[in-house]
Amino acid sequence: MSRSRAGPSRLIHGRRHGKKLRPGRRALIERLLPELRVVVPQRGALDARALFDPPVSEVWLEVGFGAGEHLAAQARVHPDIGMIGCEPFVNGVASLLATVAAEDLRNVRVLDDDARPLLEALPEAAIGRLFVLFPDPWPKRRHHKRRFVNRANLDACARILRDGGELRIATDHDEHCRWILDHLRRHDAFEWLARRPGDWRARPDDWPATRYEAKARAQGRQPVYLRYRRVPRG
Ligand SMILES: C[S@@+](CC[C@H](N)C(=O)[O-])C[C@H]1O[C@@H](n2cnc3c(N)ncnc32)[C@H](O)[C@@H]1O
Repeated sequence: MSRSRAGPSRLIHGRRHGKKLRPGRRALIERLLPELRVVVPQRGALDARALFDPPVSEVWLEVGFGAGEHLAAQARVHPDIGMIGCEPFVNGVASLLATVAAEDLRNVRVLDDDARPLLEALPEAAIGRLFVLFPDPWPKRRHHKRRFVNRANLDACARILRDGGELRIATDHDEHCRWILDHLRRHDAFEWLARRPGDWRARPDDWPATRYEAKARAQGRQPVYLRYRRVPRG
């Protein structure tokens, strides 16, 4: 019997709910989310491009978009790109939906759940860029197994990224940064694009800031911005 893709949702360790939603935000969850929601098939592949109308030239994916500032900014400047965002935290989803509605962004789709079943359902080389911005660092050693960057998830990311596609990861946590660098260094499918310190210390112009990043800077932490290229398949 094949394993159900709904299974891993139970393993989400972060919050799903925050403060009670205001009526306007609640209405967006009830009315707009069903229109934009990505439904992961229990079996078989999900055609990512088919989610978008008008058609898009490529699909990019953001895992854990928080309040969606980065995702919305990318959607705004790249109307030809289909942006899929995954975020189980309902208040964050509602924030993104508020921006999507206010700006009438047509190229955004949302999975309000764990990203991992979606990674599994997407076909090989379906994604042009993958963003994992400030993944939860889970600093305690016994919680390291909860970190999104691990061998299994990197294998999944490598499979769904097209040749030459990009994986972007940000973190403000020193030990988590070493963990990420180490896992990516040991993965043959990824090549770090940094040549000099400025390449990872400065946020590239085409990498919009997030709320989490603003908080990190306000508290005196210096984020790093890691860009990896998906090495072309042999
Ligand atoms: C530290 S926050 C960063 C949010 C946002 N990227 C930012 O920079 O403001 C990490 C986010 O990842 C989300 N997250 C954690 N595990 C996830 C998973 N398996 N799939 C999708 N999102 C996840 C959490 O709900 C949380 O909102």
